[in-house]
Amino acid sequence: MKELIHSHINRMSPYIPGFQPRSGSRPCIKLNTNESPFPPNKKVILSLKKALKKNKLNLYPDPSCVQLRKLVGKKFGLPSENVMITNGSDEALSLLFRSVLSSKSSLIIQEPTYSLYPVLARINDASCISVPLQDDWKVNFSRLIQTINTNSIPHENSKAEQKQKKPKKTPIHLAVIANPNSPTGIAEPLKQLLNFAKENPSLTLVDEAYLPFMGSRWTDFSAGKYAGTKDFPRLTVCGSFSKAYSLAGQRVGWLLAQPELICNLDKIRDSYNLSRLAQEAALAAWKDEKGFLHTIHRICRNRRKLNLELDKLGFHTLPSSANFIFTRPPLELTAKDYNSFLISKDIFVRYFEQKKVNDYVRITIGTKKDMKRLLNTTKEWINLCKKKVQK
Ligand SMILES: Cc1ncc(COP(=O)(O)O)c(C=O)c1O
Repeated sequence: MKELIHSHINRMSPYIPGFQPRSGSRPCIKLNTNESPFPPNKKVILSLKKALKKNKLNLYPDPSCVQLRKLVGKKFGLPSENVMITNGSDEALSLLFRSVLSSKSSLIIQEPTYSLYPVLARINDASCISVPLQDDWKVNFSRLIQTINTNSIPHENSKAEQKQKKPKKTPIHLAVIANPNSPTGIAEPLKQLLNFAKENPSLTLVDEAYLPFMGSRWTDFSAGKYAGTKDFPRLTVCGSFSKAYSLAGQRVGWLLAQPELICNLDKIRDSYNLSRLAQEAALAAWKDEKGFLHTIHRICRNRRKLNLELDKLGFHTLPSSANFIFTRPPLELTAKDYNSFLISKDIFVRYFEQKKVNDYVRITIGTKKDMKRLLNTTKEWINLCKKKVQK
């Protein structure tokens, strides 16, 4: 079998999603994949019921998602031609990566960021260059540009490099910036992102999966309205219905880009990439502005409260603009130990083993009740640790 599979696929490691606890006897809290803790609003459920009543599931859905493209485009002041609706924003990433990356090109990202990006590069046999975030966890834009410029022209390795067995440099075709970033939750100013997109000779993708948690005027912070326009032809932006629209289970996302790029991506996507029900749910969620604002308001309020309470316990938390926080336990206590204790109490957060990030855990913002249980369990852990030290 091995000989039949691309060798780069054989060699690569898969993306590992957050642990999915099975519903057991003890109620668990799942705070590890940045889902919304609130189910979709009534209007969304009603639209799904109506769609089921019409019972057209024997027929294929709209292959062009005409209505959704129109509405999403309108929000960013873009025509439908600049919009593609995808099966979660992961599909937008996957299509874009497939269309521009190969063994002859590279991706550039920050480190740390969403761990799917390097996996998608590897699927396309492309190399992935990571530029570390600055000490304040912000994007190092000048280093990114510098790296892109030195890699932009394909060249044979020098003799010295060949001796050191350095891999041949391949030109960078795509730069991805998650804004806000994951796992940090930190957002970059729009101006900086636009300056970068202008300077970057390759494609720029700004991944705005978490941007709505900037608040009710989130589109003011979005690069969306510039995507694929005359001044920013190489800028692309993706967004998601999974987080702020509470529709992770329906898999809907969007990509904003130049029409020529959208046409090319259309060639490689599954014609019916969004089910009828997914389209209905997304339309209803997008139209229900009041319900959407209520959801993000509650999440932002719970985020503020959790931050304050963890501060009181001596945790260090990065300033988050997303529906999660990245936080470090106090003093000599370790994030690894904290994570293990939470698991023993059926609370699942995200712990990353890699250096620098392994001092922190990423916690998705849940309901008031979830946050109360998390805090009580955290206090219990700290008291236990204190007792151990006193012994
Ligand atoms: C930064 C980032 N982008 C994109 C996604 C994918 O979201 P979707 O559910 O829309 O595929 C995630 C998922 O967690 C994410 O963290």
